[in-house]
Formats: sequence, structure tokens, C-alpha cells
Amino acid sequence: MKNLILGVETSCDETAAAVVSEDLEVVSNVVSSQMAIHERYGGVVPEIASRVHVSEVIPVVSKAMAEAGVSGRDLTAVAVTRGPGLIGSLLVGVSTAKALALAWKKPVVGVNHLEGHLASASLGQDKVEYPCLVLLVSGGHSLLAQMSAPGVYAVLGSTRDDSAGEAYDKVARLLGLGYPGGPAVDRLAVSGSDVLNFPRPMIHDGLDFSFSGLKSAVAYYLRREPAYVREDVAASFAAAVVDVLLAKLEAALGRADFRSVAVVGGVAASPVLRERLAAMNRRRGVKLCLPPLKLATDNAAMIAAAAWPRFREVGGDDLGFGADAGLKLPEAALLQSRRP
Ligand code: KG4
Ligand code: ZN
Repeated sequence: MKNLILGVETSCDETAAAVVSEDLEVVSNVVSSQMAIHERYGGVVPEIASRVHVSEVIPVVSKAMAEAGVSGRDLTAVAVTRGPGLIGSLLVGVSTAKALALAWKKPVVGVNHLEGHLASASLGQDKVEYPCLVLLVSGGHSLLAQMSAPGVYAVLGSTRDDSAGEAYDKVARLLGLGYPGGPAVDRLAVSGSDVLNFPRPMIHDGLDFSFSGLKSAVAYYLRREPAYVREDVAASFAAAVVDVLLAKLEAALGRADFRSVAVVGGVAASPVLRERLAAMNRRRGVKLCLPPLKLATDNAAMIAAAAWPRFREVGGDDLGFGADAGLKLPEAALLQSRRP
């Protein structure tokens, strides 16, 4: 049997568990989403999220183990998201993973959720070639990173305020489209036109992102023009976000001899973004890796995948590690000693 890590992810509103082999085969991947529960509140309610994790985590882990056809003794280690995220939600996953690791006498590896997203680049059908430029665009984060090997990366730019997904969600709320907003805004955008000339914040200004000004511009416009056309607002907003993302990607591509580009996180689902990425790919000839959506949005397979290089390098963590809601992504990889 292959070497296997069980990953556990409970940082926000998905309870997830997955078994991933050392060669990054996703052997099982179970995600229980709370979206329907939080929808009526227009966003994630932290206390409700933690409670649902408490009831879901054991069934979800059991399902992932059963689907992989393994028991605790078959595992090499247990990995878990230790931050960033909602503290009550993180605590459920961290406590569960530690308890399982203790019971099974296995090492436990605490993983940064953002390192998980970066690692998801390697889980798709298209094999990532290094160095790889990764664009992470999720509800909580927007960042660009240069990966030179699994687990070895340097952050090139990140968001100064709202992430791309957050901007989508806020604009969706302004348009009365409910939560999560990204897919709803994109559906409307298809029937509208980019005619409103919304700002493209910091488009030619380094590799950091800023989307809060764009969101405010949409809010002002809606107040000023009560007879607005929703489809055009959605199309103009989505075009502004995607223009910025593409401009930053292109600028970053000029900084090194990248052999592939990966786009991960929930916003990677956007058809507007995917179309533009495909066009860039044709023009520049750089390999494009888009993991399937189930692995690009929050999941535990990416947590197990991120744990593998860490585990090989340093083994398990001391059981004393805790959940950390504000855990930062190091500017450069922890695994400095690893060479591509
Ligand atoms: O990666 P993800 O599932 O969770 C986080 O780690 O945050 O990303 C969720 C985000 C939400 O903000 C959602 O509105 C956005 O991804 N999203 C989209 C689309 N589908 C989801 N944004 C734009 N277009 C979409 N089709
Ligand atoms: Zn995430």
C-alpha cells in the first residue's frame, strides 16, 4: 500500500477530510458544505459554523477513510488546517486531528490553509512544471506566489484589503444576489456588457492587489443610478476584477522563466476568468494548470498535499501546536533546504 496522509479541514464553512498518497493521488476527498445553512444569513455565522463542524467532522473523516478503504494503522500521518480561519471552526479540526493521531499513534502535521491552496495546484490532471506561478483567488485571499518545488515558494504579491472573492461577495450583496455571490454575479455578467468603466485598482502598480476601491465604486454607482441595469453592473465589475488579475499574472510572468501557471481558489471557477486565462495561454504558450473545482475551493486533499513535503522535511509537529485564526503565510517557504 502507498504511503498515505489523512487531511482534515475545518477553517471556514466546509467540513472536509481526504486521503492523499505521497505521489499526490487523491485517494478519497469528502467535503460537507454548510453553504445552505449560512445562505439565509447572507454570510458565514462563526458560531453556527463551529457547531456544524462538531457534528460533521467524525462522519466526514469516517467517510473519507471508508472511501479510501483504509484504517488508522494504514496512515503515515494526520494533517490538519491550523489557520488562518474562524477560531471556533479551526479548533474542531485541530482537536479532532490530534485525538485521532494520538489514538492511532501517528504523527500530526499542522498546515497553513494558504499553503494548502498553493499545494492544490499539484492535484489536477495537468502536471505542474516548476517554477510554477500560482494565482490564489479565494473568498479570504488573493495572492501570487512563485513555487519552485512542492512546498517551496515565495510570495510575490498579495491583497492589501479585500480579496477578489470578498469583492464578488460584497457586490453580490449590493445587487441583492445572496451568498456566496461569485457564481451569481458571474451568471448575471454573461448577459451584460462591460460599459460602466469601473476602476481597475493598482492595475499597473506592482504585484499587490486592492479590491476595496472597486467595490466602493460599484456601491456609489448603484446609489447614483437607481435605475441601473444589474447585468451591466455585474459584467463591468467582473471585467474589472479579471483585468486586474490578468495584468498582475502577466507582470509576474515577466519576472522569471515560469514553466507553468496555476490558478486556484473559488474565483478560479469564474468563466470570465477562465476564458481570459485560456486566451493568455494561447498567446504566451505557458502551460496552464487549473485543478478541478472540487480541489480548488476549500477541501482537505490540498491540506494533506501540503503536509507531504513538510512531513518529509521535519516529520510531525509537537502536539502542543494550537489553532491560530490569524496565521500568516510566510513570505518565503519554510522548506528553504529543499531544492527543486
Ligand atoms: O476558495 P473558496 O471556496 O473559499 C475560501 O477559501 O475563501 O472561495 C470562495 C470564493 C467566494 O468569495 C465566492 O464568491 C467565489 O469564491 N466564487 C466565485 C465563483 N465561484 C465562487 N467568484 C467568481 N466567479 C465564480 N464563478
Ligand atoms: Zn480557502
